[in-house]
Parts: sequence; structure tokens; C-alpha cells
Amino acid sequence: MSTAISPTAYNYKVVRQFAIMTVVWGILGMGLGVFIASQLVWPELNFGLPWTTFGRLRPLHTNLVIFAFGGCALFATSYYVVQRTCQTRLISDSLAAFTFWGWQAVIVGAIVTLPLGYTTTKEYAELEWPLAILLAIVWVTYGLVFFGTITKRKTKHIYVGNWFYGAFIVVTAMLHIVNHASLPVSFFKSYSAYAGATDAMIQWWYGHNAVGFFLTTGFLGMMYYFVPKQAERPIYSYRLSIVHFWALITLYIWAGPHHLHYTALPDWAQSLGMAMSIILLAPSWGGMINGMMTLSGAWHKLRTDPILRFLVVSLAFYGMSTFEGPMMAIKTVNSLSHYTDWTIGHVHAGALGWVAMISIGALYHLIPKVFGRQQMHSIGLINTHFWLATIGTVLYIASMWVNGITQGLMWRAINDDGTLTYSFVEALQASHPGFIVRALGGAFFAGGMLIMAYNVFRTVRASNPAEAEAAAQIAVVGAH
Ligand code: HEM
Ligand code: HEM
Repeated sequence: MSTAISPTAYNYKVVRQFAIMTVVWGILGMGLGVFIASQLVWPELNFGLPWTTFGRLRPLHTNLVIFAFGGCALFATSYYVVQRTCQTRLISDSLAAFTFWGWQAVIVGAIVTLPLGYTTTKEYAELEWPLAILLAIVWVTYGLVFFGTITKRKTKHIYVGNWFYGAFIVVTAMLHIVNHASLPVSFFKSYSAYAGATDAMIQWWYGHNAVGFFLTTGFLGMMYYFVPKQAERPIYSYRLSIVHFWALITLYIWAGPHHLHYTALPDWAQSLGMAMSIILLAPSWGGMINGMMTLSGAWHKLRTDPILRFLVVSLAFYGMSTFEGPMMAIKTVNSLSHYTDWTIGHVHAGALGWVAMISIGALYHLIPKVFGRQQMHSIGLINTHFWLATIGTVLYIASMWVNGITQGLMWRAINDDGTLTYSFVEALQASHPGFIVRALGGAFFAGGMLIMAYNVFRTVRASNPAEAEAAAQIAVVGAH
């Protein structure tokens, strides 16, 4: 390996930018989550203004946490991982910078347009056509930077983490472009190119695979790099990781119809979605076990390393939510869970427990490295953050399970004469204590993010650019 390395071996600037914005958008998105959770407890918080109603702020929450927080975490880590595992600099600094600024522009566009009520009405694809086009351009550029960097790699092999990131980039582009096909009628309004049940099917093919590829496959790429790195152990089974990859991407794409059980969608499509969802348990758990078993011989590190704890607990929540998902996909179970808070609990088991916790763990590993520090300013504060995040997630999902099952049972209860036993308002009243616990759990989680921001601020303030450059150089000279 050559040791004549330029001091600017890796492009860490774009990694630093995305990493910082992950924390910023995390606080904003989760803060908004706590706010809308509080609106469900105290409806007065809607303030009687159209812009501040739950209906408009909810999609802003989902866009901020998924695309701004999750998206920035994926950009930061994928740019970091692809450079280190390919031992080469990103193919183009200017294109990488364009993805950073373009992505931030899309997010700011969402913050302005969603509260104003401009929306396609398709969940997770709400942004109107001008923003959707900008998003597509940024995404294709991201693909060029990522795959371009892989083509100029100095290593023979393409590390498995990059396969996961690569699939996430390609499939997200495909989903976004197909689902957004629409006819603009004005600058702020467009109509879907599809109609009726076809529109619903395409929307949930998109929606489920946004979960499968954006919220899962990309974060598995993260898992395959940061878990072995932090545990200082090789991945448990490289062979299993390859089987995991092909099985996961082959199966995920068929499971969308489980979002449309008992609808106008043809029955065979619903049953196919259900069957594929149940089979999906196998690759999901294969990946989870592969990550967990990487700690063989390193379990004792959990006692002292809160970063590793974030990563391992995220895998436990991943395992839990990918067990729960296939169960909820069974039609008879779904007839109870659908429309209830059980779904919301499942979503946040994945979103807080898996997506947010693995991102936080990866960032605590990565931030000192790209800012030229040995470690984060305070390990104690990482530990406090860990407990706030874990307790917050448990409060959130446990309260939503209780609420969900209560709601499902109350809605379907009937008297002997066939009339409903409970009115909708009675079920809502029964949900009130759960709403309070959820808001509290959310406040714990968001509070942890504020502690993270302080810790990151102190780490960054103590860094200096020369040390960061030196870190980039050493990283290339040493094996990744
Ligand atoms: C402090 C943390 C959070 C709080 C308090 C929170 C709160 C909420 C609330 C109150 C809702 C609306 C539920 C309803 O309509 O009944 C919601 C929806 C949602 N949130 Fe969060 N959230 C948090 C973090 C996150 C994160 C980190 C993600 C993703 C990475 C996320 C993804 C979602 C999604 C996808 C939905 C829509 C669920 C559906 O339509 O089924 N949330 N959140
Ligand atoms: C094997 C894996 C999984 C399966 C089979 C699965 C299955 C399901 C099912 C059946 C629903 C309820 C649909 C409904 O009644 O409307 C659902 C909702 C949802 N799941 Fe999962 N799930 C899995 C993993 C995950 C993970 C890991 C996450 C997050 C990172 C996640 C995020 C969501 C979201 C956001 C929704 C709500 C969609 C909406 O209605 O807006 N799922 N999932």
C-alpha cells in the first residue's frame, strides 16, 4: 500500500456537514414529534390556525425525521463508508457538495410548503412536483457520486455495506420517480398519473419500500460497517451477509399490499403481500443475528462502551419490529391492528429503536474521526443519552400497544342487538392516558438529542482542521 498520501486523502467536509445536519434535523423533527404528540393530549395546542394543525404538522414531522434526519445520517455515513472501504476519495467534491446543498433545499422547501397545506396527499411522498423534481435530481447525483467512487476504488472487493447502501440508492430513485408520476395543473398542485386501486397499490409499493429500502436497507449498510468497527471484531459471517442482502432485496419489494388489507385491492394481491411479509422475517432476522453475533467475544465491551450499546440495542429493536411487522401483516391480526395506535407503536419501534438508535451510535463513532478528535467530548453524556433514548422508546411503544389493542377491541365490540358497544369518543377517551405516556417517552428521546447536540458542539469546538486532515491521512495509510 502506498504511503505517499495527499493530506486531503478523503473528502470529510461533506461528511461533517451531513453529520451536523443530522443532529439539527433530528432535534427539529423529534421536537415536532413531541409537539404533535402533545396536540393529541391537549387539542388547544392546534391554536385554531390552519398552519399549526395536527393534519399539517404530522406530514412535516414524518418528512423531517425520515428524509432530513434519516436522510442526512445515510448521506453522512455512506460517504464516509464508501471512501474508507474503497480507500479512495469521493469521485467529485463539487457533485458531493451539490447533494448536500440540494438536499437541504428540499428540506427547507418541505418546511415552507407543508404547513401552508401544499401536498400531493400521498403519505411520505407529500412534496409537490417542483420539490419532487429537485429531490430526484439530487438523488441521481448522489447515485453518481456513490457508484462513481466505487468504480475508482483501490480495493479489489466491494465491501458488503456498500451493497446495502447501493441498493438503497437505486431502489429509492426508482420508487420516488414511479410514484411521483403526475400531471401538474399549477405550480403547487398536481394530480397522480394513476387512478383508484392502481394509485393505492403504487403508493403502498412506494410506501412499504420506503420503509424497506430507505429505513432498513440503508441502515443495514450502516450496521455492517459500524457494528464491526465499534466492536473491533470482524462481521460474524460474511457469507450470511451476502445471503442476507439478496434475500432481503428480493422479498421486500412484494410486501406492499399488507398496507391495503380489506380494501378494493384484489384479494390475491393482499394474500401475496401477506405471504411475502411472513417470509420476510427470515432475512430480517438473519441480518439481525449476523450483527448481534459480531459481538461474540466482545460482549464485555457493552459494560463500558455506550456507543456499542446504542448499536446493539438498535439491532434488538430491529429484530423486534421485524417480528411484529410480519405478525401485523396476517390479515386477521391486521383487522384488529389497522387504523389503531398499534401501527404507530410498530412504526416507532422501527423508527426510534432501530433507525434513530443505529444512526446515533454511528454518529458518535464517526464525528470524532471526521473532526480529528480521539473521542467524543463526554462518554458519560453518551451514556445518559443512551438511557434517555431507550426508556423513551419503551414508553412510546408500550403505550401505543396498550392503546392500539384497546382501540381495536372497543371498535369491534358489538351488543346482542348488533349495535356498537362503544362510541368512537369513548375509545378516544380510553386512549388519553396512553397519549400522555407517549408524549413523555418522546420528550425523553428528544431530550437525549439535545444532550447529543451539546456533546457534539463541545467535540467540534475542540477540533482543529489540521488534526482532521491528519486523521483523514492516517486512515488511508492504515487499513480501514
Ligand atoms: C421524539 C420522538 C418522536 C415522537 C414524539 C413522535 C411522535 C409522532 C406522532 C405523535 C405521530 C402521529 C401519530 C398519529 O397519527 O396518531 C407520529 C407519526 C410518525 N412518525 Fe414519529 N415521533 C418521533 C420520532 C420519529 C422518528 C425518529 C421517526 C422516523 C425515523 C418517526 C416516524 C414517524 C412516522 C413514519 C409516522 C407516521 C406513522 C403512520 O402513518 O403510521 N417518528 N410520530
Ligand atoms: C419484516 C419487516 C416488516 C414487516 C413485514 C412490516 C409490516 C408492517 C405492517 C403489516 C404494517 C401495518 C400496515 C397497516 O395496517 O396499515 C406496517 C406499518 C408500518 N411499518 Fe412495518 N413492517 C416491517 C418492518 C418495519 C420497520 C423495520 C420499520 C421502520 C424502520 C417499519 C415501518 C413501518 C411504517 C412507517 C408503517 C406505517 C405505514 C403507514 O401506514 O403510514 N416497518 N408494517
